Amino acid sequence: MRPLAAFLRTLREDLEAAHRHDPAARSLLEVALGYPGVHAIWVYRLAHHMWQVPPLRLAARLVSQLARAATGVEIHPGARLGRRLFIDHGMGVVVGETAEVGDDVVLFHGATLGGRSMRRGKRHPTLGDRVVVGAGAKILGPVWVGDDAQVGANAVVIADVPAGAVAVGVPAKVRRRPVEAPFDAEVDDPAIYI
Ligand SMILES: CC(C)(COP(=O)(O)OP(=O)(O)OC[C@H]1O[C@@H](n2cnc3c(N)ncnc32)[C@H](O)[C@@H]1OP(=O)(O)O)[C@@H](O)C(=O)NCCC(=O)NCCS
Repeated sequence: MRPLAAFLRTLREDLEAAHRHDPAARSLLEVALGYPGVHAIWVYRLAHHMWQVPPLRLAARLVSQLARAATGVEIHPGARLGRRLFIDHGMGVVVGETAEVGDDVVLFHGATLGGRSMRRGKRHPTLGDRVVVGAGAKILGPVWVGDDAQVGANAVVIADVPAGAVAVGVPAKVRRRPVEAPFDAEVDDPAIYI
């Protein structure tokens, strides 16, 4: 697939992911026009392309800051975000330069993928696929959050979270899902929290 076609397909996937996750969304047009989290991701995807070309890095930062001013979502263009990311409500989300995010992740407003040190190098979290980060949660440092994990609203995560686990509280305590109570897809749908 040509690069532009692939890029546009990725943007459409972002749109569809938001529509799928939010029961309040009535059409793709409504999402495209009215969802700041989607706008922030779209601008990030452009800025991330620019970030790959060193002379464009300053411009990429400025584009990113314009998106922050318009949406309240700050995503560093150097961060590596997967496909079909959904940022719900948007405002106050911060994603640091060395953060990595898998596919089909949901971030609620106020979620922070931040650093704990001022040193250069990998200092932000890595999230697996299908992770949900609750409103106001802070994930700090180069910690790893495994596939299908959930981070509770307002949790402060400073240690790894195993795949499929739930982390709640300050500092977050990890609670594994009981095997006898398998994950119910309906209960897991982030839309139920809205
Ligand atoms: C963390 C979360 C995913 C847990 O969901 P769950 O697996 O259904 O877990 P439960 O509701 O059974 O709660 C399990 C335990 O964690 C506690 N808990 C749940 N969420 C918590 C939170 N955010 N902070 C602290 N404790 C929390 C419950 O009180 C319960 O404690 P107990 O075992 O001592 O009784 C969910 O509560 C959450 O915070 N989701 C984020 C939703 C969000 O941000 N919505 C924003 C919409 S705008």
